[in-house]
Amino acid sequence: MGIESTADNLGIGIASSDGIILANIVKVHVPKEGGIHPREAARHHSEYIGETISRALEQAKMKINEVDLIAFSQGPGLGPCLRTGATAARAISSYLKKPLIGVNHCVSHIEIGRLATKANDPLTLYVSGGNTLVSGYESGRYRIYGETLDIAIGNCLDTFARAAKLEYPGGPAIEQLALMGSKLISLPYAVKGMDMSFSGLLTAIINEYKNGKHSIADLCFSLQETGYAALGEVTERALAHTKKPELLLTGGVGANKRLRNIIKSIAEEHGAQPYYVPINYATDNGAMIAWTGILAYQNGLITPIEKSFVDPKWRLDEVEAKWRA
Ligand code: ATP
Ligand code: FE2
Repeated sequence: MGIESTADNLGIGIASSDGIILANIVKVHVPKEGGIHPREAARHHSEYIGETISRALEQAKMKINEVDLIAFSQGPGLGPCLRTGATAARAISSYLKKPLIGVNHCVSHIEIGRLATKANDPLTLYVSGGNTLVSGYESGRYRIYGETLDIAIGNCLDTFARAAKLEYPGGPAIEQLALMGSKLISLPYAVKGMDMSFSGLLTAIINEYKNGKHSIADLCFSLQETGYAALGEVTERALAHTKKPELLLTGGVGANKRLRNIIKSIAEEHGAQPYYVPINYATDNGAMIAWTGILAYQNGLITPIEKSFVDPKWRLDEVEAKWRA
């Protein structure tokens, strides 16, 4: 059983050791106003975790004592949210006397992506509300080839959407409006080495919105084109350098058709196979934690209770991915 609680999604998943997902239940916390508030999201998770576990067991047609391992998101993420999931995981693990496994959230996005698409050794672009990462496996670990230096691309989209009074979350609304846009407004494009920055882009697009000179369609179109071009540039350079045979797109922003097209053309250009993780496994979910917990356990990795503290800044490249060796 995997418990995911890094941000506003509470997810409980159940996987079998041969990679069958038996249950995947997600309970989403929607903030009343503004962005996510870590303590309110944590309160939501503790309120619903019991019921969400019951629903997952029901979906898998299992009883709690048939669960063999308890995995949880140990980081990165929001401290209060992570602690809620970790507390539940420790309690269940000690009650059932079953091993506890702390899982890196970013690693788990890649692992469920590999499981769901059957990609074997992909370069991955993981883009969500809290993460923007270009990574691939090399010599024992998932390496970070490029990342954001400030905010994630999804956060940039959502914050602009809020400023422009569009629906929450912003990505889908911006995607629809962008289809009707055609004028490319000049906006800051920030790729520094292999890293990206989106905070200047966000400030600029909000200013362009406020000055009233452009249609909302042109604003959305320009925001997407500029932001996704940066993602594409870094991804393409990483693919050219690593010569990975596959290119995997995941995270909530990976639902975007324009971004998918960019990924597809990059992959084609470099003779790689593009893969898109199905949306229920691309956004935060418990199945990815359960599955990565199994991979870790099968390779002798477990987390003793005294080492099960959460790490809100746990980097992907700190994890020994023994199962990939
Ligand atoms: P994480 O904890 O991994 O950072 P998250 O909580 O942000 O994840 P996800 O569900 O993976 O969760 O991603 C949500 C993001 O995806 C939001 O920023 C949302 O606007 C964006 N998104 C969803 N659909 C689309 C779309 N069609 N186009 C662009 N962005 C989208
Ligand atoms: Fe995530």
